[in-house]
Amino acid sequence: MNPTPLPTVRALTPSDAAAYVALRRAMLLDTPRAFAADPETDRGSDEAGVRTSLAGPGYAIVGAFEGEALIGAAGIIRQSGRKLMHRAYIWGVWVRPDRRGRGIGEQLVRRTIETARGWSDLRVLCLSANAEQPAAIRLYERVGFKAWGVEPAMLIVDGVEYGEVHMQLRVRSG
Ligand SMILES: CC(C)(COP(=O)(O)OP(=O)(O)OC[C@H]1O[C@@H](n2cnc3c(N)ncnc32)[C@H](O)[C@@H]1OP(=O)(O)O)[C@@H](O)C(=O)NCCC(=O)NCCS
Repeated sequence: MNPTPLPTVRALTPSDAAAYVALRRAMLLDTPRAFAADPETDRGSDEAGVRTSLAGPGYAIVGAFEGEALIGAAGIIRQSGRKLMHRAYIWGVWVRPDRRGRGIGEQLVRRTIETARGWSDLRVLCLSANAEQPAAIRLYERVGFKAWGVEPAMLIVDGVEYGEVHMQLRVRSG
C-alpha cells in the first residue's frame, strides 16, 4: 500500500469556514484538555464568525489539506490596542490523530510564525500548552518557543486540574 502523501499547507480563506468549523469540533472532542474552549460555547465553532475573521486583518488559520479534506490546523490572532498590538497568540493547533508524527504539526506552526513575521510591528508570539501535552511542548520548543512559566490549575477537565505552560517567541526586536 502507498503511504499517504504529505498534505498541502496553506492559509484558509473565508470559503474554508465550514470545513474549519467541522475540524474545530473534532479537535475539541478529541483532546478536551488541550483547549480551553468547549464545543457548546466555542467562538471558533461559529461559521459566520470564522468567515468574517478570516476576511479581516490580524487573524489567520493555516490548514493542512489532503485534497479537499482538512486534516490539521493552527490559528494566529493579533492583539488589539496600541499597547498590545505587538503581540499575537497561536491557538488551536491540532492534527488528526491518524496523521500525527509526520511533521505536519511542525509545518503548520512554522507557517503561522511566517505569517506573523509578515505583520508589521509584530514583536512577540505567545502561546500556552497544557503541561501534560508533552508532544505539543516539544513541537513549540523545536520551532523556537521558550517557556517562561507554568500556571497551576489553569484548566479543570473532568474534575482533573491541569497546569498550563506559557511560552513566547520573539519575532522582531525592539
Ligand atoms: C501536538 C500536535 C499538533 C503535533 O502534531 P504532529 O503532526 O504529530 O507533529 P509533528 O509530526 O511535527 O511532531 C510530532 C513528533 O513526530 C516526529 N516526527 C516528525 N516527522 C516525522 C517523520 N517523518 N517520521 C518520524 N517522526 C517524525 C517529531 O520529531 C515529533 O517527535 P517528538 O514528539 O518525539 O518530539 C498533535 O500531537 C496534536 O494534535 N495533539 C493534540 C492537540 C494538542 O495537544 N494541541 C496543542 C495545543 S497547545
